[in-house]
Amino acid sequence: MEKKSLFPVINGLLHGGDYNPDQWFDRPDILEEDIRMMKKAGINSATLGVFSWSIYEPLEGEYNFEWLVDIIDKLYKNGIYTILSTPSGARPAWLDEKYPEVMRVDNYGHRNHHGERHNHCMSSPVYREKVSNIIHKLVEYVGKHPGVIMWHISNELSGECFCPLCIKRFQNYLADKFDNDISKLNHAWWNTFWSHNYNRFDQIEPPFKNGENTNLGLNLEWKRFTTWNMNEYMKSEIKIVKELTPNLPVTSNFMQFYGGLDYNVLADELDVISWDSYPELHNNYEKFYESMERNSFCHAIMRSMKRGKPFMMMESAPGFVNWLPYNKVRRPGVHKLSSMQAVACGSDTVQYFQWRKGRGSFEQYHGAVVDHLGKDDTRIFKEVEDLGIALKKISKTAGTIIEAKTALLYDWDNKWAIEDIKGLSKNTKNYDNVCLSFYSEFLRLGIEMDVISSDRDFLNYDIIIAPMLYMLRPGVADRLKAFVNKGGQLLATYLTGYVDINQLCYLGGFPGDGLNELFGIISEEIDTLYPDDKNIAEFTDGSSGIIKDYAEILRVNNASVLATYGQDFYKCTPVVTANNYGKGTAYYVGARIAQSKMRDIFIQMAQKAGIEYKKLPLGVEYHKRTTDGESYEFYLNNTESSVVVEDVNGTNLLNDKKVNGILELEKYEIAVVEL
Ligand code: GLA
Ligand code: ZN
Repeated sequence: MEKKSLFPVINGLLHGGDYNPDQWFDRPDILEEDIRMMKKAGINSATLGVFSWSIYEPLEGEYNFEWLVDIIDKLYKNGIYTILSTPSGARPAWLDEKYPEVMRVDNYGHRNHHGERHNHCMSSPVYREKVSNIIHKLVEYVGKHPGVIMWHISNELSGECFCPLCIKRFQNYLADKFDNDISKLNHAWWNTFWSHNYNRFDQIEPPFKNGENTNLGLNLEWKRFTTWNMNEYMKSEIKIVKELTPNLPVTSNFMQFYGGLDYNVLADELDVISWDSYPELHNNYEKFYESMERNSFCHAIMRSMKRGKPFMMMESAPGFVNWLPYNKVRRPGVHKLSSMQAVACGSDTVQYFQWRKGRGSFEQYHGAVVDHLGKDDTRIFKEVEDLGIALKKISKTAGTIIEAKTALLYDWDNKWAIEDIKGLSKNTKNYDNVCLSFYSEFLRLGIEMDVISSDRDFLNYDIIIAPMLYMLRPGVADRLKAFVNKGGQLLATYLTGYVDINQLCYLGGFPGDGLNELFGIISEEIDTLYPDDKNIAEFTDGSSGIIKDYAEILRVNNASVLATYGQDFYKCTPVVTANNYGKGTAYYVGARIAQSKMRDIFIQMAQKAGIEYKKLPLGVEYHKRTTDGESYEFYLNNTESSVVVEDVNGTNLLNDKKVNGILELEKYEIAVVEL
């Protein structure tokens, strides 16, 4: 792969964040200070105008952009580039007052009142028109400015709208999808059940809280529609900026584990993936390195949406956020560690929400680089400054990428389907956490892993892990077979292949759609365990692993049995199997076996696939960024004590020291080793 930096003008990694000078018009002294302090902290980019609509256009058709031109100029002259947001994330009062249709309707059918943010109707033609107007004005004033390097579309697109316009679009969407044939929809949603058959598409309502929300097909299609409609909305903004400024790349910031939109769909419309990373570090429910692993998993989800390209960490919090149950400050050294984690995972940026704390309103106590104190000698400021220096030292890594040969399948609509299963237990399905636990185990083995949707190309990989692949999209079963047939190592678990894309159960044995041939088993029953229950998987080599939550009872056709249950009425029946298929192997893990025991299976798969794994101390995170002829290894000590990592060779760019075999890292220390 050739090295391709996201921002050639920056010549290195981008360091910046949200900047709201429009909140400080009465304090020109502060604005002057900002530029001086940004330079001191090694900031080379600012994200402007995320929520500036009421300043840009205080009354309909009255515009005020001079300040923006002025600030972009000033920043540019000081080597600070602008990422320019479209202001559609929040609306001025006059707009809602005059055109109430732009305000969302909730799932009881009530129109929202004016206020808050991230709450426009995605279907409203009036909203699209007003957004289009303001973007045209923005471009007129600053779109061609050499300081502007990217468009940031809206902000954290999210939520649903149940207004009449959205309902109509939903009905049309369904008619389109089911070929205008209501009997097709009735069959797909199994509507004879509870007399749910519709006569016409225009009878269908979305899943109102006080209406039809027991129809699984409807629930799922509504989520898909919401993604489709949000994507259509986002595309309407992208179309305008691409027409007016074709050379500027476009992004829109995603959120960690956000469940309301299938980001894979939106990703295809964006030039670069960016996301807002707010890990809950030093919490009271997991170890620090486990929180870091969770965040690493989110980075991998985002990175993998555009394979072979760096992504952006668009926001993160220096200090703390203000919306967690407990907003603990970042301990000394953690800012650098978590920022470097983003770069290690493939981000070319470290960005903050926000540069300076606002004096008032909802986020006045949210962390920022500059505190209300206003000084550049605070602990937080100094940590940001220190990071700025470190980012310069590793600027060569910009444009390099992570080349993973293993992938974990993670699908939003699979997740939606699992969450809506009426059965098993409400409390323990935990799709996200199960996926995370597998990702973490690969991370601990130092094996780079992409996290991809099941419609991406499997043939880029040697190992595929498919946790709880409950719903199979069309073609997935065949593509998995082709993957294994060509020599791939595949692992699937309990709850694989129960339903098709409409959530109709497969007949003739799970996993369906031909997957029982691939795995050589049929899953006949699934047992749901109470939190205090457990079983045990006894492996043929004498080792064992604890089983919690779910246990399938398997019929083995032609697979070999690697482990059997140790307890209950299904004692001695198979729980883990492996089936040779073509040149590869298909593993089936019929129960939720402890993460630490899964490690042994993963090692076996890596050995078969010829993928090297590492001996890392627990809590040390490893990544490798490369391009033609260049390789950088990142080692992050996500623990509170010093550690020794073996087999590391090269130069640590952060301290210019040669590493010959042994790398010692202090608490939270990072090494970026050039090979
Ligand atoms: C989100 C938003 C920001 C800000 C932060 C606070 O990421 O995009 O505007 O509200 O949350 O953490
Ligand atoms: Zn609407």
